[in-house]
Amino acid sequence: MSATSPITAQSLFDLLRDDLAAIEREFGRETVANARAITDIGEYLRGGGGKRIRPALLLLAAKLFGYEGRGAIRLGAVVEIIHTATLVHDDIIDEAETRRGRPAANTQWGNAKCVLAGDWLYMQAFKIAVQERNFRILDTLIELTQQMVEGELLQMEKLGRCINVSEHLDLIFRKTACLFSVCMRLGAILGGASEEQQERLGEYGRNLGLAFQIVDDVLDLTASEEVLGKPVASDLREGKATLPVILALERCTPGEHAQIERVLCERELNGVTHPEILAILQRYGALDAATERAQQYADAARKAICSFPDSEIKRALLWAPEFVVARRK
Ligand code: IPE
Ligand code: IPE
Ligand code: MG
Ligand code: MG
Repeated sequence: MSATSPITAQSLFDLLRDDLAAIEREFGRETVANARAITDIGEYLRGGGGKRIRPALLLLAAKLFGYEGRGAIRLGAVVEIIHTATLVHDDIIDEAETRRGRPAANTQWGNAKCVLAGDWLYMQAFKIAVQERNFRILDTLIELTQQMVEGELLQMEKLGRCINVSEHLDLIFRKTACLFSVCMRLGAILGGASEEQQERLGEYGRNLGLAFQIVDDVLDLTASEEVLGKPVASDLREGKATLPVILALERCTPGEHAQIERVLCERELNGVTHPEILAILQRYGALDAATERAQQYADAARKAICSFPDSEIKRALLWAPEFVVARRK
């Protein structure tokens, strides 16, 4: 492969396959509890699939510095377990019915058991992370968990309201991009990267995570449940004003504004259908503008790592933003 040729999805998968399989085993081994419901909920979520993008990023960051030790397997499991815990809690909060193409865990075990399983998974993630004997790693994970919880709470406080773009970006940084940034920084810490290198990889992760959540929000409006594996148009029905909606609200007529506001406020598609809302968004190019914004963050992610020397791993990191923006699920 030439120094500049792009990496393919297949060669990226080949590059990470063994490590991702090891992370999968670590996750399975480490989520066995004395309480049956916890083991079952963990196994159910893990068995449901998922893209494993967070552990893949952590592996790439560590490999960028030539790191090949056990720590990346452990911390890869840690970030996927934290992600799983947030999904279990998020689906309770959002009253979601499906996740990863299956009934959401809350619909199978009920909210009470799922809250406790989520708590247990968080603590188990920390228990694994402690094995690294590295306060820097623990500090990073504690800060992350608090950011994510604050993000969900802030979102809850803003439900049903038309928030502005900067409030929205702060929120999606906390709930999603912070974890992407942490995956990159943890990999860099394992790899013995300098402070400055950690910063640059963290910046890559932050931008990639912002792009990722914006695309998630566009797909919530435009995709089908069969492809996405989770409910669609759910953000509107949950009263969440996501970027495409915020951009449309800035541009539309007072009448259209009132229509969208009513959906957000009532948290129901009353008197207006999903296709009608989509038509308003399309009329003002709001979906394209949001995708364009995701593309800008993807470009910023690539730019953040441009000074690293060329390598197969760097090419994989340069490719990931493209994957995130172009994904259909
Ligand atoms: C879902 O994340 C939660 C968001 C931050 C939007 P993913 O889309 O990575 O979920 P899985 O792990 O692939 O199911
Ligand atoms: C992501 O937000 C929240 C998490 C960080 C778990 P969403 O509520 O949009 O995630 P999905 O769409 O349910 O996966
Ligand atoms: Mg949700
Ligand atoms: Mg979503």
